[in-house]
Amino acid sequence: MDMQWTKVDIPKSKRQARIVHEHWNGCDHVAVIIKLNTMEQTKRLVEKGPATKKDDLIVITGAGGFIGGNLALHFTKKGFTNIRAVDKKPLYEWYLHVPGVENICLDVSNEANCHRVCEGAVEVYNLAADMGGMGFIERFRVECLRSILINTHMVEAAYKAGTRRYFYSSSACAYNTLLQKDPNVRALKESDAYPAMAERGYGWEKLVSEMFCEEYWHERGMKTFIARFHNVYGPNGTWDGGREKAPAAMCRKVIEAIDKKDLSINIWGTGEQTRSFMYIDDCVKGIDMITHCDDLIATPINLGSSELVSINTLVSKVEKIAGVKLKRSYNLNAPLGVAGRNSDNTFIKQMLKWEPDTTLDKGLAVTYKWIGQQYQARKAGKRVGIG
Ligand SMILES: NC(=O)c1ccc[n+]([C@@H]2O[C@H](COP(=O)([O-])OP(=O)(O)OC[C@H]3O[C@@H](n4cnc5c(N)ncnc54)[C@H](O)[C@@H]3O)[C@@H](O)[C@H]2O)c1
Repeated sequence: MDMQWTKVDIPKSKRQARIVHEHWNGCDHVAVIIKLNTMEQTKRLVEKGPATKKDDLIVITGAGGFIGGNLALHFTKKGFTNIRAVDKKPLYEWYLHVPGVENICLDVSNEANCHRVCEGAVEVYNLAADMGGMGFIERFRVECLRSILINTHMVEAAYKAGTRRYFYSSSACAYNTLLQKDPNVRALKESDAYPAMAERGYGWEKLVSEMFCEEYWHERGMKTFIARFHNVYGPNGTWDGGREKAPAAMCRKVIEAIDKKDLSINIWGTGEQTRSFMYIDDCVKGIDMITHCDDLIATPINLGSSELVSINTLVSKVEKIAGVKLKRSYNLNAPLGVAGRNSDNTFIKQMLKWEPDTTLDKGLAVTYKWIGQQYQARKAGKRVGIG
């Protein structure tokens, strides 16, 4: 990095401010650094970089999984021709093999692998994490926390590779759990993450990784982008095996009940807990928009639907799609998570003039159909990805 210091006339009140010009990765960068007491706070002026060309290298980690795979598909459909998809799972377990995409099996919690993966990358999307629904994140907190290695090494490798834009997939689990004790929740806005009391394990990992991304901008000038996803669902995601989330689990349970001619369903908790669910197409569109909005650099933002439903309502919607009515039983000892959670979309609407808007009825119908096909394929002895 070639860095120069420029002397400027600084008002008395900001005696210790200075402007820094940096030249790296083919671009000029300017930062205003203001020293307050012993803390150095950096406010960078954003230089408009060149637009990403169709043959620039885009790296997506976690691409054998649900959101990463769908993101590779999204960029391919937009005409990007140089996409590197990375996941530690063997290729036959990936949900999607997008034609024309370079697929690599590597563990990105390993530092050397991250450098290999980021080499030449213009944009990096880090979607890799050891994660799952409530059943997984409440039982495997250590596994969730260990995902800190992934982002720690990936963000550094991207920075060293001169990556222009780095995206990190955070979660609504980073929000203060004390605000989510009632099913009739006030929707969570971005400032509700602090004072921090995140979900044990998974949520804290997300919060600390967010902070890494924020500081790689403030201190080092790499443009980072952070979205806090609220429950994502849709085709090509986990639907069985213990890591699946509520919409996929409910679809599978209804399909199973019909198939086994046992018209009953077991629901975790009282069914009164509430959530909002975002359809996958909205999620990948949102990731793309957020990562290309310079006003959102190093600024965590909600990416979720604001259509709040109870789990009982979710089950009723799936029953309606399937054309059945099931006898419900409730497991009050099952992992539940918070009592209620919704996304406040004021900020995203203000910044992007858009919010995730696929209705749950519409998205669930597509998801139910896809899970039905997977269920039948597995029953017929075919190999299908479940998670
Ligand atoms: N799906 C949701 O509802 C949701 C909600 C909030 C946040 N997120 C976040 O979005 C991201 C993607 O989630 P998803 O739903 O696609 O999950 P997913 O489990 O389907 O995909 C994650 C992928 O990361 C891979 N992976 C894990 N550790 C790895 C490693 N060390 N090296 C390489 N690959 C590794 C897994 O094999 C998996 O294929 C994650 O960061 C997750 O925490 C998802």
